[in-house]
Amino acid sequence: MTEPQAWPTAISWVGVDHPERRVFDELIPLSEGTSYNAWVVRGATHTALVDTVEPEFSNRLFARLADAGVTRLDYVVCSHAEQDHSGSLPAVLARYPEARVVTNRRCADMLHDLLEVPHERVQVVADGDSLDLGGRTLRFLMTPWVHWPETMLTWCAEDRALFSCDFFGAHLPCEGVAREWAAIAEAAHLYYATIMAPFGNHVKKHLARVRELDPRWIFPSHGPAHADPAPVLAAHQAWASGPTGPKVLLAYVSMHGSTRLLVQGLAERLATRGVPHVVVDIGGFQVGQLAIELLDASMLVLGAPNVLNAPHPAALLAVALLAGLKPKATLAAVLGSYGWNDKPLEDLSASLASAKLEVLPPVLTKGLPKPETAGQLDALADEIVRRNAGFATT
Ligand code: FEO
Repeated sequence: MTEPQAWPTAISWVGVDHPERRVFDELIPLSEGTSYNAWVVRGATHTALVDTVEPEFSNRLFARLADAGVTRLDYVVCSHAEQDHSGSLPAVLARYPEARVVTNRRCADMLHDLLEVPHERVQVVADGDSLDLGGRTLRFLMTPWVHWPETMLTWCAEDRALFSCDFFGAHLPCEGVAREWAAIAEAAHLYYATIMAPFGNHVKKHLARVRELDPRWIFPSHGPAHADPAPVLAAHQAWASGPTGPKVLLAYVSMHGSTRLLVQGLAERLATRGVPHVVVDIGGFQVGQLAIELLDASMLVLGAPNVLNAPHPAALLAVALLAGLKPKATLAAVLGSYGWNDKPLEDLSASLASAKLEVLPPVLTKGLPKPETAGQLDALADEIVRRNAGFATT
């Protein structure tokens, strides 16, 4: 086993852990909370702060800066305008009047719109520009759409350290240290599935640039640092690649068991036919596992009952998420149970088509599955086999 490499002496964590946070973006479940990482890079002549923290924690950022012995900030690099990283900028600029924000043109405009950061406090940089701190050089790489249009990375060549903001992040508290990939992977997978998944092509493109840099350290803005980037990069490459074979995701919500019986019936038929599949209960709006399984699903089967004359809202949320997550699946179908009106479930089936999925005819039952349901599920399973679950059929 190799010895852990020594932490770069020029780099200090001045971020904030937020272990109590249970939901991000009012949508994404967090089991252990998160962190907002900010980093100080000290050269012989200048000091830079890379990113800030949620605005409610500005004072904790200032306390960490004081503990790190920072009395003057020359630059505040802003990798991303989203407020969990930029929200403390106005307070930082007030406290350190000599500091200049360093970011790209688009981010500068967004900071002005979102936080009223004055343009005259901003030093605009472009791809490949660098900043000399005296023995430490920061170089900026524009990485639009991982995951906003203005996102950028910062590279410190002397330490082979990459400040990656949301890229390679995980919602975990970190106490400013590195952890092994095995301890981060599950949270990173959820993070990727819920935040980066729609931008897989951009992720792959920028991953190639990161590989060329051959970083020794990756410092993301959420979760622990990566002292061994190889498994992090490999995992992101796989996640961004999408389905590598047929896989049917059966995502369902069931109130009284009828829809569950339909889903189980189809799952059994897929198993008999050797079709890889996974079943996820999305009752209670469990979006995390749904997002993860969508990453490499080639087909989505959505199971739902009616409630109050409409498809169950958990299923509607799943459909709404498809528009944002842009999964690579190409094929879909609906299984559903209703009490007196099948129209809402027919509409649910049609709504999947608006997410650019080819939709097979639904299997719907009034209450419990009926004797004829078995034949309908057999036909659906056979069609899924014929279509190779939507894999490589387009
Ligand atoms: Fe962690 Fe896109 O902000």
